[in-house]
Amino acid sequence: MENLKNDLFLRACKKEPIDRTPIWIMRQAGRYLPEYRAVRANSDFKTMVKTPELATEVTLQPVDIIGVDAAIIFSDILVIPEALGMNYEMVESHGPSFDWTISSESDFNKLSKSDLSDKLSYVFEALKLTKKELNGRVPLIGFAGSPWTLLTYMVEGGGSKNFSKIKSLIFNNPTLAHKLLDLISETVSEYLSLKIKSGVNAVQIFDTWGGLLSPDLYKEFSLNYIQKVIAKVERTDEPIISYAKGIHHSMNGLANTGADVISIDWTHNIGKVRRQIGDKVAIQGNLDPTVLYGSIDVIRREAVKVLDSYGKGSGHIFNLGHGILPDISPANTKALVEIVKEESKRYH
Ligand code: CP3
Repeated sequence: MENLKNDLFLRACKKEPIDRTPIWIMRQAGRYLPEYRAVRANSDFKTMVKTPELATEVTLQPVDIIGVDAAIIFSDILVIPEALGMNYEMVESHGPSFDWTISSESDFNKLSKSDLSDKLSYVFEALKLTKKELNGRVPLIGFAGSPWTLLTYMVEGGGSKNFSKIKSLIFNNPTLAHKLLDLISETVSEYLSLKIKSGVNAVQIFDTWGGLLSPDLYKEFSLNYIQKVIAKVERTDEPIISYAKGIHHSMNGLANTGADVISIDWTHNIGKVRRQIGDKVAIQGNLDPTVLYGSIDVIRREAVKVLDSYGKGSGHIFNLGHGILPDISPANTKALVEIVKEESKRYH
């Protein structure tokens, strides 16, 4: 096993005893940091994603500046649809936009199903370079979108208000939806396995759009495929974290996918989720990201509420309930990290 100077995050994922709660922040390598914006001023988003030196540089920023207990590789979930043959642009102050979308069987046939290690070699190079630069300071997390969340982008072509296209697909052509989800699941498993081979210490699956579905359809179109992905990931002891937003109905389902950690949004009471799912898995979360607009006193009060709600013992990884927003102050973010490091000691 690799010699990590700070392995609190990995030990919390495995519910091993620790002396304080680890913290990292979803989207920690992002626009709220002036140092990120400085790199971004000279390169567009996709160039940063595809240039290992730049991806490494911004991955390390929150470790150096904010003091988080884990690094997450700077990249995007959309590299998978792109590797399947769907080019996208990241449109300024709008979001992703794909060149074409999937609506029929013939679109399925247009997807290119070969050689991830070659097409995504820039990701694996960025991971190796980041591991080298981290030099064991903190663990490195790799990630992918859930099959359902990726399919949503591939069918909608970008963000959406009503998600009419993906919802019509599952009601009008569920067979095609399942065929696509099978293909994406295979691809995501292979991708996460290759990331683990490149040195990541843990992986997270983001199911950002799981909350679009009613409970039974969530199981059919999302949860089942998260489970398939996890079953096929080749790993030794690297934890798998499953993040989902807006799925109050399926906490036990998420905890039963084979994930080691479930990551929950801020609308849950984390202590209640802990009691509901029992000792099976660790829990990551779940501060409301907008708490960081508050004063340091408010941040402390709300962070302590989360720590207190989880209660004593290992198995909690502190995080926000969704990604950090681009206009949050880095000073407040750093204060949150310091508050969690200090206040969490009495829960261990
Ligand atoms: O967490 C990290 O710091 C690692 C990097 C990371 C990014 N995207 C970088 C990014 C991670 C883990 C993601 C995941 C991701 N990407 C998700 C799942 C997590 C979530 O937020 O729900 C999703 C849905 C995407 C797709 C995506 N990427 C969208 C919809 C957008 C545009 C919206 C936005 O926030 O601007 C992106 C762009 C993106 N991905 C940025 C970053 C830092 C901002 C791009 C910029 O610099 O202009």
